[in-house]
Amino acid sequence: MAVRAVLRMGHPQLRRRANEVERPGDEALNALVGDMLETMEAAGGVGLAAPQIGVPLRVIVFGVQSDNPRYPDAPPVPRTVLVNPEITARGRDVRPEWEGCLSIPGMRGLVPRPERIRYRGLDANGQEVEGEARGFHARIIQHECDHLDGILYPDRIVNPEMFGFIEELKAAGLIAGDLPPEPAQPATGPG
Ligand code: NI
Repeated sequence: MAVRAVLRMGHPQLRRRANEVERPGDEALNALVGDMLETMEAAGGVGLAAPQIGVPLRVIVFGVQSDNPRYPDAPPVPRTVLVNPEITARGRDVRPEWEGCLSIPGMRGLVPRPERIRYRGLDANGQEVEGEARGFHARIIQHECDHLDGILYPDRIVNPEMFGFIEELKAAGLIAGDLPPEPAQPATGPG
């Protein structure tokens, strides 16, 4: 396993649709997942998509540990690998929250997303995985799945004033505290 460089916005690879994994469970996929988990943890992130390390495959990893000092307010999310994931919104509840991205360091934007989703996909061994997620958990999965379609969170910002450098947003009182670098901050609003 190795910590890989994370591509930053502007790199064309981040804008391409990633390809389905053809042979889940093979050695190459296991090596990729190992690198992704190590890279996510080294960066202090809560999620990572394969295109962010320059691999055009539909693989995401995410997870939040309850004792992570960088995410004091984030609810724990089990460490999960999803291969060829598909998501569908459940219900009509759409909520804006601040998001960041390891590919867009130092910035945050307010992004509306469905509050509840259903997801399905495969794990690294090719076993089917499905479940429901809500809130922060659902937001991470949606953010990472967007990466697989070449979508970055600024594309989803409705109000361009709610996008900027963390220090400026803090100075303006729009965000508070120390925010996690990737990809979202739960329950953060003005004040
Ligand atoms: Ni991201």
